[in-house]
Amino acid sequence: MIYVDNAATTRLSEPVLQAMMPYLTECYGNPSSLHSMGQTAAMALVRARETIAEILNCSPKEIYFTSGGSEADNQAIISAAKYGESKGKKHIISTAFEHHAVLHTLEKLEKEGFEVELLSVKDGANITAKQVENAIREDTCLVTTMFANNEIGSILPIGEIGGICREKGVIFHTDAVQAAGHINIDVQSQNIDMLSLSAHKFHGPKGIGVLYAKKGIPLTTVISGGAQERGKRAGTENIPAIVGMAKALEIANASIEENTEKVTKLRDRLISGLSGIEKSILNGDPVNRLPSNVNFCFEGIEGESLLLLLDQKGICASSGSACTSGSLDPSHVLLAIGRPHEVAHGSLRLSLSEENTDQEIDYILNEVPKVVEYLRNMSPVWKDIVSGKKKSVL
Ligand SMILES: Cc1ncc(COP(=O)(O)O)c(C=O)c1O
Repeated sequence: MIYVDNAATTRLSEPVLQAMMPYLTECYGNPSSLHSMGQTAAMALVRARETIAEILNCSPKEIYFTSGGSEADNQAIISAAKYGESKGKKHIISTAFEHHAVLHTLEKLEKEGFEVELLSVKDGANITAKQVENAIREDTCLVTTMFANNEIGSILPIGEIGGICREKGVIFHTDAVQAAGHINIDVQSQNIDMLSLSAHKFHGPKGIGVLYAKKGIPLTTVISGGAQERGKRAGTENIPAIVGMAKALEIANASIEENTEKVTKLRDRLISGLSGIEKSILNGDPVNRLPSNVNFCFEGIEGESLLLLLDQKGICASSGSACTSGSLDPSHVLLAIGRPHEVAHGSLRLSLSEENTDQEIDYILNEVPKVVEYLRNMSPVWKDIVSGKKKSVL
């Protein structure tokens, strides 16, 4: 199988598995236990926290382990909102192409009386720092924008947005789930107050993530119980996963330049090859783009059928976010960048990793055009477009 769905999740790497193994087998103590096995686990927890803090350039005390990106997003946003509310500020700025972990949390807050402003990306494939600056008001308590988009790969101007928020005294959170381990992150120089990341997007285990929260930002407890994570996130720490995440981030971070160079070449071959398909369009920022992301819409076909046929050819791809597949609604991200409904339905996301090869790209470039043609030959919409009965929207 050719796996090009790395934005959905990645393969657990061998060194990461090896780092986790002792904590899954002989050293299974609870880090809150006072005996030596518990204390060995506690030491591993300290080391993992230090490793991650060093990579993000923050203090270990600013790192909180969560069950993944979704939980970190929820806790960050709820915390900043509640803090804002305590100061009489209830305006939140975000973007229309955030992950649902952010959008659905914001919807809940709206029901509680917060005013949420989603910046539109319709006039392009990305948002600008200027848009954020213009939207900030006296009563803005939070700006939350993703670091890089999971569907279309656009990389946002995070440093600039952070700078503006810092200047205006507004808390800035970024969902860096697609960026961590792939793009350099430095919470100090990028003026990031809160950040979410998730291990399974950089060859770490699933079900573990990090919330970075700058000292001084009071966290609201989302999961109550024991005193773990300095009382801010209850539950026995998942030591094997935490150790694996630190190892995975260490490896990924050390190879960012090398991987970027390799993966960008593969990506650009795919983009230039697939652009040759008639009535196709690249989604997302063509320049400020994740090295791993290729996302196209093909007019006149259904993305789901395309995926099933590609799967039969041994290609694991996606039509967009894994979290929304299974629903018949077109991607909110593609609608947010102005793709019409009928075009948004025909999307294909190929998300690469450094494990992909040139031979795999050759194969994909050979198969995708054939499958698109096959589906168009069966598509009444495409027939109408070809005969001129229906106007093409691309
Ligand atoms: C941008 C973004 N945010 C949040 C998440 C959720 O992360 P997790 O699966 O760790 O809950 C994802 C996962 O796809 C994502 O891509």
